[in-house]
Amino acid sequence: MSAEKTENLSWIDKRFPLTETWRNHLSEYYAPKNLNFWSFFGSLAILTLVIQILTGIWLAMSYKPDATLAFASVEYIMRDVDWGWLIRYMHSTGASMFFIVIYLHMFRALLWGSYRKPRELLWIIGIVIYLAMMATAFFGYLLPWGQMSYWGAQVIVNLFAAVPVVGEDLSVWVRGDYVISDATLNRFFAFHFLLPFVIAALVFLHIVALHHVGSNNPDGIEIKNGPKGNRWSDKAPADGIPFHPYYTVKDFMGVVVFLAIFSLVMFYAPTFGGLFLEAPNFQPANPMQTPVHIAPVWYFTPFYAMLRAVPPMWGSQFPGVVVMFAAILILFVLPWLDRSPVKSMRYKGPIFKWATAIFAVSFVVLAWLGMKPVSDLYTLLSQIFTALYFAYFLLMPIYSSLDKTKPVPERVTS
Ligand code: HEM
Repeated sequence: MSAEKTENLSWIDKRFPLTETWRNHLSEYYAPKNLNFWSFFGSLAILTLVIQILTGIWLAMSYKPDATLAFASVEYIMRDVDWGWLIRYMHSTGASMFFIVIYLHMFRALLWGSYRKPRELLWIIGIVIYLAMMATAFFGYLLPWGQMSYWGAQVIVNLFAAVPVVGEDLSVWVRGDYVISDATLNRFFAFHFLLPFVIAALVFLHIVALHHVGSNNPDGIEIKNGPKGNRWSDKAPADGIPFHPYYTVKDFMGVVVFLAIFSLVMFYAPTFGGLFLEAPNFQPANPMQTPVHIAPVWYFTPFYAMLRAVPPMWGSQFPGVVVMFAAILILFVLPWLDRSPVKSMRYKGPIFKWATAIFAVSFVVLAWLGMKPVSDLYTLLSQIFTALYFAYFLLMPIYSSLDKTKPVPERVTS
């Protein structure tokens, strides 16, 4: 580096820990040497968050958060704003890709046991991010003011009314009115604009927590507790390699593949067969006409299927609402449900492996059932798969203790 550059850098370093931060979090942050493709999803989640924030800001420059103008303003963006259609499709495709990436990111944590000690708080911050993402997506879904936007919001906000005693007031408070209206649209727009920045702040905390405890790996071995000394440093974990340039370059490869898939969807199938953008939402909201079948976007449908699986009691949907929220809140206690002596699925026994496979299948089947119109068969299937979903968590303290695990090696394996 030139003398002048070094001088400039040391001037900065005396006033801001630039080099120190670079070293601690990139060039001398040692990550396990056996990380595989499952580690792509964290950086892809950061990339998608940035895409959503940037395209969102650009959309907000032409979008009108007014019930009489909103639908037309999206049409205006699609047809008249320069590259408006591309920014809109980047945002709508980005929303679904974000949830695909996050579900795979969370599933990796289940496979590697990355919710176990010392990563309990990292996991919990993750769940808070997930909740904030769901709220952001829910608020954002009303903004196009299409038929499914309007009626989807009507159904979900009405669930608040099922809460005993305070329900009615709560739902009026959330809407700002007695029905979904201009007041609701305005406040949902405000929250949809604010929450991504809250998520960005939570991601910062998430990464700080990660770099404090260190990255887990497919073997679930804490490299910090292993032998020291590698070709970069005598003090560094022997099974660690510098995050930069080794994993930055590797993550970049993941980014290229991801953006290729993203572009294919965005340019050639932006509605993705109605999964990413539903047909009824290309009609303006009509409070006088209820769509035949109301369903949320696919990333919410597993929980919607659980809601519908629970029959109303005493005319109230409250038990279903409790089950739906419990399905997410139970994730907070996962670190304390798993009593297995090993972290990674690699060394767990058949019971845990089967339980995790059944859980994953249940979640996907529930997502499919949540998109379907109500029928006796689908309700019965939803009840069975909802029970299997909860059994994964509620029976975990038992089967994780009974499970026959394999010995974990001293050092990470490739
Ligand atoms: C905007 C959303 C999110 C972003 C940007 C993000 C980012 C990251 C990044 C960059 C990493 C390190 C690289 C990797 O291992 O993948 C990571 C690790 C991790 N994340 Fe997230 N994350 C997000 C949401 C979540 C959620 C929703 C959860 C769980 C509920 C979660 C749980 C974890 C865990 C447990 C690790 C540690 C993995 C390990 O060391 O094996 N994250 N996250």
